[in-house]
Amino acid sequence: MHATTKRVALVTGANRGIGLAIASRLARLGLTVIIGVRDEKNGKEAEKRLTDNGLDAHFTLLDVSNATSIIAALGRIDDIFGRLDVLVNNAGIMIDAETGILELPLGLLQKTLEINTFGPLLLSQGCVPLMQRHNYGRIVNLSSTLGALAEIANPDSKYKELMSPAYRLSKIMLNGITALLAQELRDSNILVNAVCPGWVRTDLGGPRAPILPEEAAETPVWLATLPDDGPTGGFFREHQPIPW
Ligand SMILES: NC(=O)c1ccc[n+]([C@@H]2O[C@H](COP(=O)([O-])OP(=O)(O)OC[C@H]3O[C@@H](n4cnc5c(N)ncnc54)[C@H](OP(=O)(O)O)[C@@H]3O)[C@@H](O)[C@H]2O)c1
Repeated sequence: MHATTKRVALVTGANRGIGLAIASRLARLGLTVIIGVRDEKNGKEAEKRLTDNGLDAHFTLLDVSNATSIIAALGRIDDIFGRLDVLVNNAGIMIDAETGILELPLGLLQKTLEINTFGPLLLSQGCVPLMQRHNYGRIVNLSSTLGALAEIANPDSKYKELMSPAYRLSKIMLNGITALLAQELRDSNILVNAVCPGWVRTDLGGPRAPILPEEAAETPVWLATLPDDGPTGGFFREHQPIPW
């Protein structure tokens, strides 16, 4: 173990898109950043991109849909760094953009929930004991305005034509997990928040999206580095609270 006094952050799905931008920004702020990636080659390439820029970044193999992989990754982090201060649940999929809820196959919902929802829950459950050791923790869940019930229940919502029911349901539940975790951890210095990064130009967001991953990383990184008196149990977009 090389026990470190530097804060250690784990960012899931950090080989591309918003996750890579968050990892890069956290490392530039002086944190040791662990990039959790499910493919070894992609993970090593992303690690090299960051370390070539002088950043303190380390790849660890992590498939967030696999409980064994989650337990193994957290065990390695504990063995090597002896601490974990920040968890950014970024990894996510949207595989039902053209499907309506009337045709939604349960298998597709199950697959989406495993990655977007159950993974973040299992990771949070595993990270909290490590965070409690130093009485410090920040958990940031990458959610989406598409998962806000305030939008889904609004017949005039500007998102009313969008489908993606499995994706939207997965983010509703992720928001619920955020609020429940924050409630249970309210008397600790572990702050838990959800964030919508906006519509971002990534493989998931597509080429027409107006926001670049580097800009989208700003609010998640703010939440990942909140002061002790910062908010918990909130849902944010561009630093502002938004309705669930
Ligand atoms: N882009 C947007 O407009 C937008 C809007 C609102 C919210 N978000 C949220 O922001 C987050 C990041 O999205 P993005 O746009 O950056 O997506 P992206 O470019 O498609 O990247 C998704 C990342 O998640 C990883 N991933 C998928 N399944 C995984 C698994 N089982 N285990 C580990 N990693 C896995 C991918 O790894 P591989 O390379 O191995 O596939 C990739 O690194 C997601 O949670 C998304 O829902 C995005």
